Amino acid sequence: MDRPRGQASIEQLLAAKEIVVTCGSGGVGKTTTAAALAAMAAARHGGKVLVLTVDPARRLADALGVQALGNDARRVPASAFTDAGHPARGELWAAQLDTKQSWDDLVREHAPDRRTARRILDNKLYENISGRFVQSHEYIAMERLYDLHNEGTYDLIVVDTPPTRNALDFLEAPERMAEFFSSRFLRVLTAPARSRVVSFASKPFFTVADRVLGSQFLQDIAEFFSLFQTMAPGFVERANAVSRLLRNNRTTYVVVSTLEAAPLHEAGLFVEAITAKGFHLGAVVLNRVLPSYLLDEQAGLVAGALAGDPSAAAAALANGTGDEAQVARVLTEIAESFLRFQVVAQREAEQRSELSVATDVVAPVPYFETDICDLAGLLRLGEQIWT
Ligand SMILES: Nc1ncnc2c1ncn2[C@@H]1O[C@H](COP(=O)(O)OP(=O)(O)O)[C@@H](O)[C@H]1O
Ligand SMILES: [Mg+2]
Repeated sequence: MDRPRGQASIEQLLAAKEIVVTCGSGGVGKTTTAAALAAMAAARHGGKVLVLTVDPARRLADALGVQALGNDARRVPASAFTDAGHPARGELWAAQLDTKQSWDDLVREHAPDRRTARRILDNKLYENISGRFVQSHEYIAMERLYDLHNEGTYDLIVVDTPPTRNALDFLEAPERMAEFFSSRFLRVLTAPARSRVVSFASKPFFTVADRVLGSQFLQDIAEFFSLFQTMAPGFVERANAVSRLLRNNRTTYVVVSTLEAAPLHEAGLFVEAITAKGFHLGAVVLNRVLPSYLLDEQAGLVAGALAGDPSAAAAALANGTGDEAQVARVLTEIAESFLRFQVVAQREAEQRSELSVATDVVAPVPYFETDICDLAGLLRLGEQIWT
């Protein structure tokens, strides 16, 4: 295939980039793919590679040594690679995104002084709200990525992303965050706290809110937003920097999908959104696809013949034991099952070709019979898409 240089394979993609962001709808294997890409890069390319996971399945988290809480990265021991039969040239590090801690760090960094930081962190609403801002997860994932990239510790960072309702959610999260902090909305909310509470209180909704929630609650809200606004300049600047990082030419996006209708539709939206925003679409990984030998025409003919008349094969297999009829039934069943799988594989192939993609790297990953929950499994998956 004629591919632009430097983008011909996952191998080359990972060698050329510093950040890989995996996207796709939930359950398609996004976390697994992110970890597999990072493990392969560490094994084959060397250097320090970090996978920033969001919601790894418990056993994978254990295998990677990532903690449920805490942003600290842990190194996956070199011995784990050797045990898996792939001695690594580099180092694999893994971290789990801790949304709460990341928000707290952000507040500490951007509050004008320690006292204000303390007041924000202690604000009753903050604890509730920080985890629930629309897109708070999406933004903080990108923010954490920015931080890690800036530290310059890693040669490659692979980021897993939280499942989103909308493809654009985290691609646009930094812009939205910047907009929010410079918005009129926030200025209105934070207009001199007391006068606003008074004027709010005169409006019917707030009169009711005041009675139901108590004026203390409204005051907490007002205080929260006032305090929060003290961080606006730093926040806006930071969100813009995060935005720039997302479209940096060292950052690439890998869309993960299965060939089921809903995830595939969502993958299409991701591909559109990424290209529309001028981001670099590095690859599309199609997970859990049926093996390509099912598409082999010759194999289909053999299965068809066997399903139609298994007698000759049954005679050969039964080998004079007199169980020919039983062997024939088994053979028919197997052949028909093959043909059914072939129909599904053909449909998958059609769906695949419908996913018109602005990238040369479309990597199919077969269905593995067992869950992928250790380094050996990740490397096995990774090898499927490497070259
Ligand atoms: N190709 C595959 N074959 C078999 N199991 C897979 C495959 N890809 C992923 N899995 C399993 O599917 C589950 C969901 O994968 P995960 O990566 O957590 O999905 P996501 O992050 O997209 O929600 C995990 O248990 C994982 O081991
Ligand atoms: Mg996941």
